[in-house]
Amino acid sequence: MRKKIVAGNWKMNKTFQDAEDLVSTIADELDGVDTACEVVLCPPFPYLEMASDYADESGLQIAAQNVSEFEDGAYTGEVSASMLASIEIGYCIVGHSERRKYFGETNAQLATKVEKLLDHAIRPIFCIGELLEERNANNHFEVVKRQLDEGLFQLNKDEFKEVVIAYEPVWAIGTGVTATSAQAQEMHAFIRQQITGKYGKPVADQTTILYGGSCNAKNAAELFSNPDVDGGLIGGASLVAEDFIKIVKSF
Ligand code: 13P
Repeated sequence: MRKKIVAGNWKMNKTFQDAEDLVSTIADELDGVDTACEVVLCPPFPYLEMASDYADESGLQIAAQNVSEFEDGAYTGEVSASMLASIEIGYCIVGHSERRKYFGETNAQLATKVEKLLDHAIRPIFCIGELLEERNANNHFEVVKRQLDEGLFQLNKDEFKEVVIAYEPVWAIGTGVTATSAQAQEMHAFIRQQITGKYGKPVADQTTILYGGSCNAKNAAELFSNPDVDGGLIGGASLVAEDFIKIVKSF
């Protein structure tokens, strides 16, 4: 059976003290609990090592929110995959729509980031999803297919097996407008079908595909009950321990 994951993307939130409170509360709450999913926390860069220390004791996984497309050297302000690997970070979000929108990240750059991560044995959580106008124009399948083709499908089969996909319709992120269960399932099934076409059914059946976009403690169980929805990438609701724990327990 493929892996289920609930990941909390904290984005650019929390002071160090608040971050430590959140990670320690989540670690305590999940201590000894046999969750049906892997739990991944994605704090900002300065808190990764602190979070990793808690993770070591509690079975949580820690992810970065971004990585440089460059290996190392004179790239002021950047953080490389080798740096993340050196503090034993297991996952990294790539291509979040906020990175695409505010920092102009392109599918080609994202493909390079994915390769850098895989070179350092870090699993990418690769984000895809359409804008509202693209859905309204009925272009959503085409947009998602292009993001897969240009960002991920350069990988060989063994490389691709390490990738987690997060479908995050941009119109659902931070808006309170969640995709319906049917919309999420329809797109997740489409994504799995594209993977089947490229890498074959056994690989597609093993690929974890997360849903993200106003997923919360109230709607997570319904979203996760869909056959092709393998968990969630949670924004706002991951900043409150109680809500996040409820989502983790939604399977
Ligand atoms: P919200 O859950 O706040 O809508 O954010 C989703 C998201 O962008 C996770 O990466």
